Amino acid sequence: MHRIKIHNLLKSETPRANIVAKGWVRTKRNSSNFSFIEINDGSCLENLQIIADESLQNYEDIKKLTTGSAVAVSGNLIESQGKGQKWEVAVKAMEIISLAPDSYPLQKKRHTDEYLRTIAHLRPRTNKYGAIFRIRSELSFAIHRFFREKGFRYIHSPIITGSDCEGAGELFKVTTIDFENPPKKDGKIDYSRDFFGTEANLTVSGQLSAEMFALALGDVYTFGPTFRAENSNTRRHVSEFWMVEPEMAFCDLYEDVDIAEEMIKYLTTYVLEECSDDLKLFTRFVDKNLQSTLENIVQSEFKRIPYEEAVEILIKSGKNFNFDISFGKDLQTEHERYLTEEFFKKPVVVYNYPKNIKPFYMRLNDDNKTVAAMDVLVPRIGELIGGSQREERLSELESRLNETGLSKDNYWWYLDSRRFGTVPHSGFGLGFERLIMLVTGTNNIRDVIPFPRTPNSIEF
Ligand code: 4AD
Ligand code: MG
Repeated sequence: MHRIKIHNLLKSETPRANIVAKGWVRTKRNSSNFSFIEINDGSCLENLQIIADESLQNYEDIKKLTTGSAVAVSGNLIESQGKGQKWEVAVKAMEIISLAPDSYPLQKKRHTDEYLRTIAHLRPRTNKYGAIFRIRSELSFAIHRFFREKGFRYIHSPIITGSDCEGAGELFKVTTIDFENPPKKDGKIDYSRDFFGTEANLTVSGQLSAEMFALALGDVYTFGPTFRAENSNTRRHVSEFWMVEPEMAFCDLYEDVDIAEEMIKYLTTYVLEECSDDLKLFTRFVDKNLQSTLENIVQSEFKRIPYEEAVEILIKSGKNFNFDISFGKDLQTEHERYLTEEFFKKPVVVYNYPKNIKPFYMRLNDDNKTVAAMDVLVPRIGELIGGSQREERLSELESRLNETGLSKDNYWWYLDSRRFGTVPHSGFGLGFERLIMLVTGTNNIRDVIPFPRTPNSIEF
Protein backbone atom coordinates (compact mmCIF):
# COMPACT_ATOMS: atom_id res chain seq x y z
CA MET A 1 0.00 0.00 0.00
CA HIS A 2 1.16 3.52 -0.70
CA ARG A 3 2.31 5.68 2.18
CA ILE A 4 0.29 8.68 3.24
CA LYS A 5 2.20 11.81 4.17
CA ILE A 6 2.09 12.55 7.88
CA HIS A 7 0.92 16.07 7.11
CA ASN A 8 -2.20 14.62 5.48
CA LEU A 9 -2.80 12.08 8.22
CA LEU A 10 -2.69 14.75 10.90
CA LYS A 11 -5.19 16.87 8.97
CA SER A 12 -7.69 13.98 8.87
CA GLU A 13 -11.24 14.78 9.92
CA THR A 14 -12.12 11.21 10.81
CA PRO A 15 -10.31 8.06 11.97
CA ARG A 16 -8.88 5.96 9.15
CA ALA A 17 -8.37 2.23 9.03
CA ASN A 18 -5.36 0.54 7.41
CA ILE A 19 -3.04 3.39 6.64
CA VAL A 20 0.66 3.22 5.86
CA ALA A 21 3.08 5.83 7.14
CA LYS A 22 6.84 5.99 6.75
CA GLY A 23 9.33 8.21 8.46
CA TRP A 24 12.24 8.64 10.82
CA VAL A 25 12.12 8.11 14.57
CA ARG A 26 12.35 11.35 16.53
CA THR A 27 11.67 10.01 20.05
CA LYS A 28 10.69 6.76 21.69
CA ARG A 29 9.40 5.87 25.15
CA ASN A 30 9.03 2.28 26.31
CA SER A 31 6.50 1.42 28.98
CA SER A 32 5.90 -2.11 30.31
CA ASN A 33 4.18 -3.53 27.25
CA PHE A 34 3.97 -0.57 24.82
CA SER A 35 6.35 1.64 22.91
CA PHE A 36 5.34 5.21 22.10
CA ILE A 37 7.27 6.31 19.06
CA GLU A 38 7.12 9.67 17.32
CA ILE A 39 8.00 9.65 13.67
CA ASN A 40 8.48 12.52 11.24
CA ASP A 41 8.62 12.34 7.45
CA GLY A 42 9.49 15.99 6.74
CA SER A 43 6.06 16.83 5.34
CA CYS A 44 5.29 19.03 8.36
CA LEU A 45 6.62 20.13 11.69
CA GLU A 46 4.45 17.86 13.80
CA ASN A 47 5.35 14.24 14.48
CA LEU A 48 3.01 11.29 14.18
CA GLN A 49 2.68 9.31 17.40
CA ILE A 50 2.56 5.60 16.89
CA ILE A 51 1.85 2.95 19.47
CA ALA A 52 3.43 -0.45 19.14
CA ASP A 53 2.52 -3.15 21.60
CA GLU A 54 4.09 -6.43 22.60
CA SER A 55 1.83 -8.47 20.34
CA LEU A 56 3.95 -7.38 17.33
CA GLN A 57 6.24 -10.18 16.27
CA ASN A 58 9.31 -7.90 16.11
CA TYR A 59 8.49 -6.04 19.35
CA GLU A 60 11.90 -6.79 20.88
CA ASP A 61 13.57 -4.99 17.93
CA ILE A 62 11.07 -2.13 18.06
CA LYS A 63 11.94 -1.55 21.70
CA LYS A 64 15.55 -0.96 20.63
CA LEU A 65 14.73 1.63 17.96
CA THR A 66 17.01 4.66 18.07
CA THR A 67 16.56 8.30 17.08
CA GLY A 68 17.11 8.71 13.36
CA SER A 69 16.09 5.16 12.44
CA ALA A 70 13.71 4.74 9.51
CA VAL A 71 10.47 2.78 9.82
CA ALA A 72 7.34 1.87 7.89
CA VAL A 73 4.16 1.30 9.87
CA SER A 74 0.74 0.11 8.96
CA GLY A 75 -2.24 0.32 11.25
CA ASN A 76 -5.25 2.40 12.15
CA LEU A 77 -5.34 6.14 12.63
CA ILE A 78 -7.31 6.60 15.82
CA GLU A 79 -8.12 9.45 18.19
CA SER A 80 -5.27 9.81 20.63
CA GLN A 81 -5.91 8.85 24.25
CA GLY A 82 -3.00 10.99 25.40
CA LYS A 83 -2.51 14.74 25.52
CA GLY A 84 -0.64 16.76 22.96
CA GLN A 85 -1.91 15.25 19.75
CA LYS A 86 -5.25 14.60 18.13
CA TRP A 87 -4.36 11.44 16.23
CA GLU A 88 -2.14 8.45 16.75
CA VAL A 89 -1.57 5.18 14.95
CA ALA A 90 -2.31 1.84 16.56
CA VAL A 91 0.28 -0.29 14.80
CA LYS A 92 -0.53 -3.61 13.23
CA ALA A 93 2.84 -4.15 11.60
CA MET A 94 6.08 -2.27 11.63
CA GLU A 95 9.09 -2.70 9.39
CA ILE A 96 12.43 -1.35 10.52
CA ILE A 97 13.92 0.00 7.30
CA SER A 98 17.23 1.01 8.84
CA LEU A 99 18.62 1.39 12.32
CA ALA A 100 20.68 4.52 13.11
CA PRO A 101 23.64 4.01 15.43
CA ASP A 102 23.91 5.94 18.72
CA SER A 103 26.51 8.15 17.08
CA TYR A 104 23.70 9.85 15.09
CA PRO A 105 24.49 13.54 15.68
CA LEU A 106 20.91 14.78 16.00
CA GLN A 107 19.83 13.53 19.38
CA LYS A 108 16.88 15.12 21.10
CA LYS A 109 18.68 18.07 22.67
CA ARG A 110 18.73 21.44 20.95
CA HIS A 111 21.83 22.25 18.95
CA THR A 112 23.29 25.66 18.17
CA ASP A 113 23.00 27.07 14.65
CA GLU A 114 26.80 27.23 14.53
CA TYR A 115 27.10 23.51 15.22
CA LEU A 116 24.35 22.65 12.74
CA ARG A 117 26.23 24.58 10.04
CA THR A 118 29.04 22.04 10.41
CA ILE A 119 26.54 19.28 9.62
CA ALA A 120 24.57 21.12 6.94
CA HIS A 121 23.87 17.77 5.26
CA LEU A 122 21.84 16.66 8.30
CA ARG A 123 20.34 19.91 9.59
CA PRO A 124 17.21 19.83 7.38
CA ARG A 125 16.15 16.91 9.59
CA THR A 126 15.73 19.19 12.61
CA ASN A 127 12.44 20.93 13.36
CA LYS A 128 13.80 24.41 12.75
CA TYR A 129 15.61 23.73 9.50
CA GLY A 130 12.82 21.56 8.18
CA ALA A 131 10.51 24.53 8.73
CA ILE A 132 12.92 26.99 7.09
CA PHE A 133 13.23 24.90 3.96
CA ARG A 134 9.51 24.22 3.69
CA ILE A 135 8.91 27.98 3.93
CA ARG A 136 11.62 28.57 1.33
CA SER A 137 9.81 26.22 -1.02
CA GLU A 138 6.41 27.80 -0.38
CA LEU A 139 7.80 31.28 -0.95
CA SER A 140 9.30 30.30 -4.29
CA PHE A 141 5.88 29.31 -5.52
CA ALA A 142 4.31 32.43 -4.02
CA ILE A 143 6.72 34.55 -6.06
CA HIS A 144 5.68 32.88 -9.29
CA ARG A 145 2.03 33.18 -8.28
CA PHE A 146 2.37 36.89 -7.53
CA PHE A 147 3.86 37.66 -10.91
CA ARG A 148 1.54 35.36 -12.78
CA GLU A 149 -1.50 37.07 -11.26
CA LYS A 150 -0.08 40.38 -12.46
CA GLY A 151 0.59 39.14 -16.00
CA PHE A 152 4.40 39.04 -15.81
CA ARG A 153 6.38 36.54 -17.92
CA TYR A 154 9.12 34.42 -16.42
CA ILE A 155 12.48 34.76 -18.20
CA HIS A 156 15.42 32.40 -17.78
CA SER A 157 18.40 34.71 -17.85
CA PRO A 158 21.81 33.08 -18.42
CA ILE A 159 24.06 32.00 -15.57
CA ILE A 160 27.23 32.41 -17.63
CA THR A 161 27.66 35.92 -18.97
CA GLY A 162 30.25 38.17 -20.54
CA SER A 163 29.19 41.35 -18.75
CA ASP A 164 29.42 42.79 -15.26
CA CYS A 165 25.95 44.19 -14.65
CA GLU A 166 26.71 45.87 -11.35
CA GLY A 167 30.15 47.08 -12.50
CA ALA A 168 31.57 46.25 -9.10
CA GLY A 169 34.05 43.66 -10.40
CA GLU A 170 32.88 40.96 -7.99
CA LEU A 171 33.02 38.30 -10.67
CA PHE A 172 33.71 34.59 -10.54
CA LYS A 173 35.53 33.66 -13.74
CA VAL A 174 34.29 30.82 -15.90
CA THR A 175 37.14 29.32 -17.87
CA THR A 176 38.61 26.11 -19.23
CA ILE A 177 42.10 27.59 -19.48
CA ASP A 178 44.83 25.32 -18.16
CA PHE A 179 46.38 27.40 -15.38
CA GLU A 180 49.64 25.42 -15.56
CA ASN A 181 50.01 26.35 -19.19
CA PRO A 182 47.75 29.25 -20.19
CA PRO A 183 47.67 30.60 -23.75
CA LYS A 184 49.42 33.97 -23.79
CA LYS A 185 49.67 37.01 -26.00
CA ASP A 186 51.98 39.95 -25.24
CA GLY A 187 52.69 38.46 -21.81
CA LYS A 188 49.03 38.36 -20.83
CA ILE A 189 46.51 35.52 -20.79
CA ASP A 190 44.90 35.26 -24.21
CA TYR A 191 41.20 34.84 -23.51
CA SER A 192 40.45 34.71 -27.22
CA ARG A 193 41.64 31.12 -26.89
CA ASP A 194 39.45 30.39 -23.88
CA PHE A 195 36.25 28.35 -24.18
CA PHE A 196 33.97 31.23 -25.24
CA GLY A 197 36.64 33.09 -27.16
CA THR A 198 36.50 35.86 -24.58
CA GLU A 199 36.37 36.37 -20.82
CA ALA A 200 33.30 34.90 -19.14
CA ASN A 201 31.93 34.90 -15.62
CA LEU A 202 29.02 33.79 -13.47
CA THR A 203 26.23 36.33 -13.51
CA VAL A 204 25.89 38.87 -10.68
CA SER A 205 22.37 39.80 -11.81
CA GLY A 206 19.90 38.85 -14.53
CA GLN A 207 18.88 42.46 -15.01
CA LEU A 208 20.46 43.27 -18.37
CA SER A 209 18.78 40.23 -19.94
CA ALA A 210 15.52 41.05 -18.17
CA GLU A 211 15.61 44.58 -19.63
CA MET A 212 15.87 43.22 -23.18
CA PHE A 213 12.82 41.04 -22.54
CA ALA A 214 10.82 43.78 -20.78
CA LEU A 215 11.32 45.85 -23.93
CA ALA A 216 9.74 43.01 -25.87
CA LEU A 217 7.20 41.32 -23.57
CA GLY A 218 6.34 44.26 -21.31
CA ASP A 219 6.42 42.97 -17.74
CA VAL A 220 8.91 40.19 -16.99
CA TYR A 221 10.87 38.72 -14.12
CA THR A 222 13.82 36.45 -13.53
CA PHE A 223 14.29 34.23 -10.49
CA GLY A 224 17.53 32.36 -10.25
CA PRO A 225 20.95 32.02 -8.69
CA THR A 226 23.45 34.88 -8.82
CA PHE A 227 27.08 34.92 -7.77
CA ARG A 228 29.29 37.53 -6.17
CA ALA A 229 32.92 37.22 -5.19
CA GLU A 230 32.60 39.83 -2.43
CA ASN A 231 35.15 39.08 0.19
CA SER A 232 32.87 40.04 3.04
CA ASN A 233 31.92 37.78 5.89
CA THR A 234 28.71 39.28 7.16
CA ARG A 235 25.50 37.71 8.33
CA ARG A 236 23.66 38.93 5.22
CA HIS A 237 26.07 38.13 2.38
CA VAL A 238 26.72 34.83 0.64
CA SER A 239 28.68 34.22 -2.57
CA GLU A 240 25.82 32.33 -4.23
CA PHE A 241 22.31 33.61 -3.64
CA TRP A 242 18.95 33.70 -5.38
CA MET A 243 17.51 36.91 -6.71
CA VAL A 244 14.04 37.81 -7.96
CA GLU A 245 14.26 40.54 -10.59
CA PRO A 246 11.14 42.05 -12.11
CA GLU A 247 11.55 44.49 -14.99
CA MET A 248 8.69 46.66 -16.25
CA ALA A 249 8.41 48.62 -19.49
CA PHE A 250 6.63 52.00 -19.40
CA CYS A 251 7.33 52.22 -15.69
CA ASP A 252 8.97 54.96 -13.64
CA LEU A 253 10.66 54.83 -10.24
CA TYR A 254 7.46 55.51 -8.31
CA GLU A 255 5.56 52.66 -9.92
CA ASP A 256 8.63 50.51 -9.37
CA VAL A 257 8.44 51.19 -5.62
CA ASP A 258 4.68 50.47 -5.71
CA ILE A 259 5.31 47.00 -7.11
CA ALA A 260 8.11 46.33 -4.62
CA GLU A 261 5.84 47.29 -1.72
CA GLU A 262 2.95 45.24 -3.06
CA MET A 263 5.20 42.23 -3.56
CA ILE A 264 6.69 42.31 -0.05
CA LYS A 265 3.20 42.59 1.45
CA TYR A 266 1.85 39.79 -0.72
CA LEU A 267 4.69 37.42 0.20
CA THR A 268 4.51 38.27 3.90
CA THR A 269 0.76 37.70 3.91
CA TYR A 270 1.29 34.44 2.07
CA VAL A 271 3.64 33.14 4.74
CA LEU A 272 1.35 34.28 7.56
CA GLU A 273 -1.58 32.46 6.00
CA GLU A 274 -0.08 29.42 4.28
CA CYS A 275 2.87 28.59 6.55
CA SER A 276 1.31 29.33 9.93
CA ASP A 277 2.24 25.96 11.51
CA ASP A 278 5.91 26.32 10.66
CA LEU A 279 5.87 30.03 11.49
CA LYS A 280 4.76 29.32 15.07
CA LEU A 281 8.09 27.62 15.73
CA PHE A 282 9.95 30.82 14.90
CA THR A 283 7.66 32.98 17.02
CA ARG A 284 8.21 30.60 19.94
CA PHE A 285 11.91 29.88 19.72
CA VAL A 286 13.56 32.49 17.49
CA ASP A 287 11.87 35.89 17.78
CA LYS A 288 8.94 36.55 20.10
CA ASN A 289 8.01 39.65 18.10
CA LEU A 290 8.05 37.93 14.73
CA GLN A 291 4.30 37.75 14.24
CA SER A 292 3.80 41.44 15.08
CA THR A 293 6.77 42.49 12.93
CA LEU A 294 5.25 40.67 9.96
CA GLU A 295 1.76 42.02 10.60
CA ASN A 296 3.25 45.51 10.82
CA ILE A 297 4.88 45.04 7.41
CA VAL A 298 1.57 44.01 5.88
CA GLN A 299 -0.40 46.85 7.45
CA SER A 300 1.93 49.82 7.27
CA GLU A 301 2.41 52.15 4.36
CA PHE A 302 6.13 52.03 3.56
CA LYS A 303 7.91 55.31 4.29
CA ARG A 304 9.51 56.83 1.16
CA ILE A 305 12.34 59.36 1.59
CA PRO A 306 15.10 60.73 -0.64
CA TYR A 307 18.65 59.66 0.22
CA GLU A 308 19.53 63.24 1.16
CA GLU A 309 16.85 63.30 3.86
CA ALA A 310 17.86 59.88 5.11
CA VAL A 311 21.41 61.15 5.57
CA GLU A 312 20.14 64.19 7.50
CA ILE A 313 18.14 61.97 9.82
CA LEU A 314 21.19 59.80 10.43
CA ILE A 315 23.44 62.77 11.15
CA LYS A 316 20.89 64.31 13.52
CA SER A 317 20.25 60.99 15.28
CA GLY A 318 23.15 61.52 17.66
CA LYS A 319 23.91 57.81 17.29
CA ASN A 320 27.45 56.57 17.51
CA PHE A 321 27.67 54.62 14.25
CA ASN A 322 30.76 52.57 13.39
CA PHE A 323 30.77 54.12 9.91
CA ASP A 324 30.53 57.88 9.36
CA ILE A 325 27.73 59.05 7.15
CA SER A 326 27.59 62.12 4.94
CA PHE A 327 26.22 62.95 1.48
CA GLY A 328 27.98 60.79 -1.11
CA LYS A 329 28.62 57.81 1.14
CA ASP A 330 26.70 54.58 0.87
CA LEU A 331 24.44 53.57 3.74
CA GLN A 332 25.81 50.77 5.89
CA THR A 333 23.66 48.07 7.49
CA GLU A 334 23.68 49.92 10.83
CA HIS A 335 22.32 53.08 9.14
CA GLU A 336 19.67 51.14 7.28
CA ARG A 337 18.56 49.37 10.43
CA TYR A 338 18.38 52.61 12.40
CA LEU A 339 16.06 54.12 9.79
CA THR A 340 13.69 51.18 9.56
CA GLU A 341 13.81 49.80 13.13
CA GLU A 342 14.23 52.83 15.32
CA PHE A 343 13.29 55.95 13.41
CA PHE A 344 10.32 54.99 11.23
CA LYS A 345 9.55 51.59 12.81
CA LYS A 346 8.40 50.17 9.48
CA PRO A 347 9.82 49.43 6.02
CA VAL A 348 11.55 52.42 4.45
CA VAL A 349 12.27 53.15 0.80
CA VAL A 350 15.28 55.40 0.26
CA TYR A 351 15.51 56.84 -3.26
CA ASN A 352 17.62 59.19 -5.39
CA TYR A 353 21.10 58.08 -4.36
CA PRO A 354 24.27 59.93 -5.45
CA LYS A 355 25.30 58.66 -8.86
CA ASN A 356 28.92 57.97 -7.85
CA ILE A 357 27.92 55.06 -5.57
CA LYS A 358 25.53 53.41 -8.06
CA PRO A 359 25.94 51.37 -11.29
CA PHE A 360 26.01 52.82 -14.80
CA TYR A 361 22.49 51.79 -15.85
CA MET A 362 20.51 53.95 -13.40
CA ARG A 363 18.67 56.96 -14.76
CA LEU A 364 20.36 60.31 -14.13
CA ASN A 365 18.11 62.81 -12.34
CA ASP A 366 17.81 66.43 -13.46
CA ASP A 367 20.08 67.57 -10.62
CA ASN A 368 22.93 65.72 -12.40
CA LYS A 369 24.07 64.51 -8.98
CA THR A 370 21.67 61.72 -8.16
CA VAL A 371 20.17 58.75 -9.97
CA ALA A 372 16.66 57.27 -9.82
CA ALA A 373 17.70 54.43 -7.51
CA MET A 374 15.69 52.96 -4.67
CA ASP A 375 16.45 50.56 -1.84
CA VAL A 376 13.80 48.95 0.34
CA LEU A 377 14.97 48.62 3.95
CA VAL A 378 13.25 46.31 6.39
CA PRO A 379 13.67 45.65 10.12
CA ARG A 380 16.54 43.35 11.22
CA ILE A 381 17.87 42.97 7.66
CA GLY A 382 18.39 46.44 6.26
CA GLU A 383 18.47 46.31 2.44
CA LEU A 384 16.07 43.70 1.08
CA ILE A 385 15.57 45.20 -2.37
CA GLY A 386 17.73 47.34 -4.64
CA GLY A 387 16.23 48.78 -7.81
CA SER A 388 16.04 51.75 -10.14
CA GLN A 389 14.55 53.41 -13.13
CA ARG A 390 16.91 52.61 -15.99
CA GLU A 391 18.68 55.18 -18.15
CA GLU A 392 16.66 54.95 -21.37
CA ARG A 393 18.37 57.88 -23.16
CA LEU A 394 21.16 56.66 -25.42
CA SER A 395 23.55 59.60 -25.05
CA GLU A 396 23.21 59.73 -21.25
CA LEU A 397 23.78 56.00 -21.04
CA GLU A 398 26.89 56.25 -23.21
CA SER A 399 28.37 58.97 -21.04
CA ARG A 400 27.63 56.96 -17.88
CA LEU A 401 29.43 53.97 -19.38
CA ASN A 402 32.39 56.26 -20.08
CA GLU A 403 32.38 57.75 -16.61
CA THR A 404 32.33 54.34 -14.97
CA GLY A 405 35.16 53.05 -17.14
CA LEU A 406 33.12 50.43 -18.99
CA SER A 407 33.59 49.78 -22.69
CA LYS A 408 30.80 50.73 -25.08
CA ASP A 409 31.80 47.88 -27.37
CA ASN A 410 30.94 45.23 -24.79
CA TYR A 411 27.49 46.69 -24.31
CA TRP A 412 26.56 47.24 -27.98
CA TRP A 413 23.48 45.06 -27.71
CA TYR A 414 22.36 46.78 -24.51
CA LEU A 415 22.78 50.16 -26.22
CA ASP A 416 20.75 48.88 -29.18
CA SER A 417 17.70 48.71 -26.91
CA ARG A 418 18.05 52.49 -26.44
CA ARG A 419 18.38 53.01 -30.18
CA PHE A 420 15.30 51.09 -31.21
CA GLY A 421 12.03 51.95 -29.47
CA THR A 422 13.48 52.95 -26.14
CA VAL A 423 10.98 53.63 -23.35
CA PRO A 424 11.14 54.50 -19.65
CA HIS A 425 11.47 51.25 -17.74
CA SER A 426 12.31 50.16 -14.22
CA GLY A 427 12.95 47.12 -12.10
CA PHE A 428 14.47 45.83 -8.92
CA GLY A 429 16.19 42.85 -7.35
CA LEU A 430 14.96 41.17 -4.20
CA GLY A 431 17.45 38.99 -2.31
CA PHE A 432 15.50 35.78 -1.79
CA GLU A 433 17.57 34.64 1.21
CA ARG A 434 17.09 38.00 2.89
CA LEU A 435 13.34 37.63 2.45
CA ILE A 436 13.47 34.24 4.18
CA MET A 437 15.55 35.77 7.00
CA LEU A 438 12.88 38.44 7.36
CA VAL A 439 9.89 36.13 7.55
CA THR A 440 11.51 33.53 9.83
CA GLY A 441 13.44 35.89 12.12
CA THR A 442 16.67 34.09 11.20
CA ASN A 443 19.77 36.13 11.94
CA ASN A 444 22.32 34.55 9.66
CA ILE A 445 21.91 34.16 5.91
CA ARG A 446 23.91 30.91 6.05
CA ASP A 447 20.94 29.33 7.79
CA VAL A 448 18.30 29.93 5.11
CA ILE A 449 20.09 28.46 2.09
CA PRO A 450 20.63 24.68 1.86
CA PHE A 451 24.39 24.71 1.42
CA PRO A 452 25.85 28.20 1.88
CA ARG A 453 28.85 29.35 -0.14
CA THR A 454 31.00 31.99 1.57
CA PRO A 455 34.70 32.93 1.42
CA ASN A 456 36.80 29.91 2.45
CA SER A 457 33.79 27.66 2.78
CA ILE A 458 32.40 25.28 0.18
CA GLU A 459 31.93 22.04 2.15
CA PHE A 460 28.93 19.98 1.07
O1 4AD B 1 21.18 45.85 -4.87
P1 4AD B 1 21.64 44.79 -5.82
O2 4AD B 1 23.10 44.66 -6.05
O3 4AD B 1 20.86 45.07 -7.18
C1 4AD B 1 21.05 44.42 -8.37
O4 4AD B 1 21.74 43.46 -8.53
C2 4AD B 1 20.18 44.96 -9.47
N1 4AD B 1 20.75 44.54 -10.76
C3 4AD B 1 18.78 44.45 -9.28
C4 4AD B 1 17.83 44.98 -10.31
O5 4AD B 1 17.55 46.15 -10.32
N2 4AD B 1 17.30 44.11 -11.16
O6 4AD B 1 21.08 43.37 -5.32
C5 4AD B 1 19.71 43.17 -5.15
C6 4AD B 1 19.44 42.47 -3.84
C7 4AD B 1 19.92 43.21 -2.60
O7 4AD B 1 19.01 44.20 -2.20
C8 4AD B 1 20.06 42.10 -1.61
O8 4AD B 1 18.81 41.79 -1.02
C9 4AD B 1 20.49 40.94 -2.48
O9 4AD B 1 20.15 41.23 -3.80
N3 4AD B 1 21.94 40.71 -2.39
C10 4AD B 1 22.51 39.71 -1.71
N4 4AD B 1 21.98 38.72 -0.98
C11 4AD B 1 22.82 37.85 -0.42
N5 4AD B 1 24.16 37.88 -0.57
C12 4AD B 1 24.75 38.85 -1.29
N6 4AD B 1 26.07 38.86 -1.44
C13 4AD B 1 23.90 39.83 -1.91
N7 4AD B 1 24.14 40.89 -2.70
C14 4AD B 1 22.93 41.41 -2.97
MG1 MG C 1 22.03 47.17 -3.53
